[in-house]
Amino acid sequence: MIQIRPAAARELQRLLQRQQSARFLRLSIQAGGCLGRSYCLSFDSQLQPDDHSFNLDGGQLVVDAASLASLGILVIDYAEDLMGGGFHFGNSKASQTCRCGNSFTPSNFTEEAAS
Ligand code: FES
Repeated sequence: MIQIRPAAARELQRLLQRQQSARFLRLSIQAGGCLGRSYCLSFDSQLQPDDHSFNLDGGQLVVDAASLASLGILVIDYAEDLMGGGFHFGNSKASQTCRCGNSFTPSNFTEEAAS
């Protein structure tokens, strides 16, 4: 389940509206970051067969099945500070989350699975 806080929904919509060719935002989980996995947001216009779609007010967030398996209850929020704005991810399947919040270790993470 993905929960998108109002501030994050507004920012995601704002970013999406600035894209001429993108139809939706894609969230994927990729290898990398300080703790093995990192959140990646990108624009896309091509749905894949294993995609799951979540409605934003006025927009769409898409997550592929493999990425969704690394997410429990995911809360996406957005905040601005003096250093700029950023998305924050709270993932119930993360056993560890890095200092900046972009990287995590899934609770079922093994080194073999990472390679
Ligand atoms: S990815 Fe290194 S501190 Fe967040």
